[in-house]
Amino acid sequence: MRKVIITGITGQDGSYLAEFLLKKGYEVYGIIRRSSSFHTGRIDHLYKDPHEQPRLKLVYGDLSDGSNLASLVAEIQPDEVYNLGAQSHVRVSFDMPIYTVNVDALGTLRLLDAVTKLHKPVRFYQASSSEMYGKVIETPQTETTPFYPRSPYACGKVYSFYQTVNYREAYGLFACNGILFNHESPRRGETFVTRKITRAATRIKLGLQDKLFLGNLDAKRDWGYAGDYIEAMWMMLQQDQPDDYVIATGQTYSVREFLDEVFGHLDLDWQSFVEIDHRYYRPTEVDLLLGDASKAQKILGWEPKVGFRDLAKLMTESDLELAKREKILQDHEMQTR
Ligand code: NAP
Ligand code: GDD
Repeated sequence: MRKVIITGITGQDGSYLAEFLLKKGYEVYGIIRRSSSFHTGRIDHLYKDPHEQPRLKLVYGDLSDGSNLASLVAEIQPDEVYNLGAQSHVRVSFDMPIYTVNVDALGTLRLLDAVTKLHKPVRFYQASSSEMYGKVIETPQTETTPFYPRSPYACGKVYSFYQTVNYREAYGLFACNGILFNHESPRRGETFVTRKITRAATRIKLGLQDKLFLGNLDAKRDWGYAGDYIEAMWMMLQQDQPDDYVIATGQTYSVREFLDEVFGHLDLDWQSFVEIDHRYYRPTEVDLLLGDASKAQKILGWEPKVGFRDLAKLMTESDLELAKREKILQDHEMQTR
């Protein structure tokens, strides 16, 4: 049975990737951080599934601890490693630049080093990001577009990108960078803008909240569906040769347009509920991202299945169900007071 290690298994992408790899018959080792409260909500359904559970193993580790990563890699002897773990919030990286770079940049190096010391053929995936294009030099962005990072997060990801390329070239490691543009889902963290909007809009619809505070509404992103994007990660590691690929939809929309879509779906006018809070602005912004994934389409045969409107709709409908459950609980509490 092929073994994989996933860092960041408790996150959005890690949870979809674990689901996908278990279905393919892999034994999946997820590295999780110790936390004072439960944070495995996105993978609990896999643990409860009697078919998947025996092949899903969670081990404690942290990208800031190289010796722990080296022991885990040596013990597990993986065939594939997916490095998805990161402090992934761009705005937060301005508040915690040193921690972010320790985990997102040096963490990758620690893992690459541990994997290379195994002396067996291992395939390595690095979660690189469209944020690396930052203040974009050309549009659309491709694998050859120069990087111009605009945050501590993006600088850390550029470092990891080049270490991954260097381990491929210097040590012959089968290592790939997936340069993924923004991808979202009902499992998206609630402080990223799409999920923040779908959570708030559906709560407003049910009378659980009356305002939504946001930052820059003019930023444009190439938004895809996480479920589609994790398939591309796996495809990269199944090729004959390692390489780097842009994964994107080829369409870009503003935060404002996402608001139109979500509030429109709920028959609400967002202008009546949204207020601007400058705390959500970034010291340096990435104004426009638009990816060209034609290399991935040609070589991997990958293309996105879910477009912008369907993505907004599926996230809104999922959060509406969540808000309904919250409303029932709230009504019940009021009645029993
Ligand atoms: P996410 O939901 O924020 O998940 C991040 C994961 O990393 C969580 O499992 C988190 O664990 C883990 N993590 C954080 N700090 C860690 C540490 N010190 N050691 C080990 N694990 C740690 O992120 P995502 O959206 O799934 O993204 C996955 C990866 O792709 C990230 O590297 C992100 O930077 C990159 N990426 C994301 C996008 C996107 O649009 N989603 C686009 C391009 C690249 P806890 O649960 O304990 O916090
Ligand atoms: N989070 C957030 N909260 N963003 C806001 C808000 C708000 O209240 N108001 C406006 N925005 C704008 C941000 O300024 C940014 O331009 C855009 O919405 C998207 O922000 P996020 O959803 O936080 O995502 P991101 O693009 O900064 O980063 C995500 O995508 C990257 C790939 O390009 C993250 O998932 C990164 O980890 C990932 O690498």
